[in-house]
Amino acid sequence: MPSPNQAALEFLLTRRSRPAKTLTTPVPDRAALAPILEAALRSPDHGKLEPWRLMVLEAPALRRLGEAVGTRAAALGLDPVQTDKGRNQFDTGHLAVAVIETPVIADKVPAIEQTYSTGAVCLALLNAALASGWGANWLSGWPTHDPVFLQETLGLAPHERLAGLIHIGTETATPPERPRPNLEDKVTWVSS
Ligand SMILES: Cc1cc2nc3c(=O)[nH]c(=O)nc-3n(C[C@H](O)[C@H](O)[C@H](O)COP(=O)(O)O)c2cc1C
Repeated sequence: MPSPNQAALEFLLTRRSRPAKTLTTPVPDRAALAPILEAALRSPDHGKLEPWRLMVLEAPALRRLGEAVGTRAAALGLDPVQTDKGRNQFDTGHLAVAVIETPVIADKVPAIEQTYSTGAVCLALLNAALASGWGANWLSGWPTHDPVFLQETLGLAPHERLAGLIHIGTETATPPERPRPNLEDKVTWVSS
């Protein structure tokens, strides 16, 4: 018989993100963040290619990035609503971890599997932060997909992609429960 880890199971069955806009200081310091990052990097990875890397963005860096998003929005001719949408998480965030996909050319591991692995890193990071008692939220937005912003401001290589920004901080409010999928709608049993 298996011996269940009830605490871990209970966490997984009740976990939920905390909206980034409700997060405040303090944020985890380097010592507190280390095990969270370590847990994130302990993710399934076919062929042990490690096709990802992390960039920890502290508040002053986020503000600098917000300014750069504003400049980029102007160059793209975006309206104020789109500009604010792109800037907001950088202007108001306190700590975020950028999860960067760094695909590796490998005979036996298709690129899509490396993308899946990068998504797994994002979820593991989110869950480790939540399990450590922090509020956390996985965000994207147009700047996270904009090659000019990614390469010229964030310093990504042309072949790299940003899978997401995981914001981490102190939660100020527990959001209402989010409706969760119905098992019957999502699961098919194949018995023979
Ligand atoms: C790749 C990805 C990008 C996301 N980007 C955003 C975003 O930019 N803004 C947002 O409000 N939610 C975004 N979400 C959704 C939230 O991170 C999260 O899924 C939702 O709040 C519910 O999370 P929970 O199931 O952990 O409670 C994104 C989710 C994923 C997987």
